[in-house]
Amino acid sequence: MSYDSIGSLVTLDGLFGEFRVGSLRLRNRFAMAPMTRGKSPEGIPNDENVGYYRARAAGGVGLIITEGTYIRGPAAGPSAEVPRFYGEDSAAGWRAVVDAVHAEGAAIVPQLWHLGVARGDEPAFEPGTPSVSPSGVDHAGQAVGRPLTTADLAALVDSYVESAVLARQLGFDGIELHGAHGYLLDQFLWAATNQRSDRYNGAARDRAAFPARVVAAVRAAVGPDFPIIYRFSQWKGVDYTARIAESPSELEQLLMPLADAGVDIFHTSLRRHWLPEFTDHATDSSLAGWTKKITGLPVITVGSVGVDSVFRGDRIDESQADRFRILREQFERGEFDIVALGRALLADPQWVDKFRTGRLADITPFRVAPR
Ligand SMILES: Cc1cc2nc3c(=O)[nH]c(=O)nc-3n(C[C@H](O)[C@H](O)[C@H](O)COP(=O)(O)O)c2cc1C
Repeated sequence: MSYDSIGSLVTLDGLFGEFRVGSLRLRNRFAMAPMTRGKSPEGIPNDENVGYYRARAAGGVGLIITEGTYIRGPAAGPSAEVPRFYGEDSAAGWRAVVDAVHAEGAAIVPQLWHLGVARGDEPAFEPGTPSVSPSGVDHAGQAVGRPLTTADLAALVDSYVESAVLARQLGFDGIELHGAHGYLLDQFLWAATNQRSDRYNGAARDRAAFPARVVAAVRAAVGPDFPIIYRFSQWKGVDYTARIAESPSELEQLLMPLADAGVDIFHTSLRRHWLPEFTDHATDSSLAGWTKKITGLPVITVGSVGVDSVFRGDRIDESQADRFRILREQFERGEFDIVALGRALLADPQWVDKFRTGRLADITPFRVAPR
């Protein structure tokens, strides 16, 4: 994408104001979206990882949400190169990341991740351990691994708590729970993967009960001020058309148990930030806007800001200038508080500073790697 055509027409000044919630202080409202890399051999963040995050912090972003990091499990994920968020070796690696990011003036939270059934049948990491998920089936009803027992659920809660407490000890500015894209916590919210017959299934609010239990346990362990961000999505990695909430009232049933359990910020994972969520309503609010309206909590939006193709999708018809204008209008209407950028920050770590200082023509645009 060329930024030349946008010129100085677009300003996003409001997004360069500070943001505060609990103990979190951000110098601006631009976040780096979580992006898996698989560049941590043995699951331990190394110097390359430190340099990668330092560069984005030095480039002006307010908040970094790390790539998805595995909790202890059981059976959190398939890769030995995805960084872990438990154990002394990984903790030492993460401490170096936090210190480097803080030295550049940005805040940082780890994204805590468990893939559930999406870990598959042939994991490279912990290959002897079967995958676990709400019902031991994937979205298509195929048996994978085994369903979570009552004891497994308790162990999982402990694993989330262990990582959250570690984050606090290491000086992170909060945590993000990965509850999006069809991974473990989302597998409870999504009827296709939640076929349980216990209290963790039923109406939408029942499907939210286990994720809410995780939030409540983390909140109790980290205290009242340490921010908990909860990322969720309608779409799944295996199905971009999937939905967990067909109406605002269903969305409310899913979100309020999480809010009541102690979420501070919701992160609505969108592939196109500008689209209205519920088209049969007399508002063109995005999912971010609905989430803010329903919960009253701060919200992070995301989805094709500064890039000209949708995440794992097609080229975008709307011009970048029009989309920046919509983003500004959404912010001014109070639909979101923070905007996350993913691929734009992969391509140019200095995207935020270049935008802030009007050097749009200097931005290195994101291009999909040729196949
Ligand atoms: C290489 C890559 C890895 C990603 N890994 C994660 C991840 O670990 N956790 C997550 O929640 N989202 C992940 N995402 C999704 C991004 O966080 C973001 O929502 C998506 O890229 C859309 O934002 P963008 O249009 O600004 O790139 C990933 C995206 C990319 C491009």
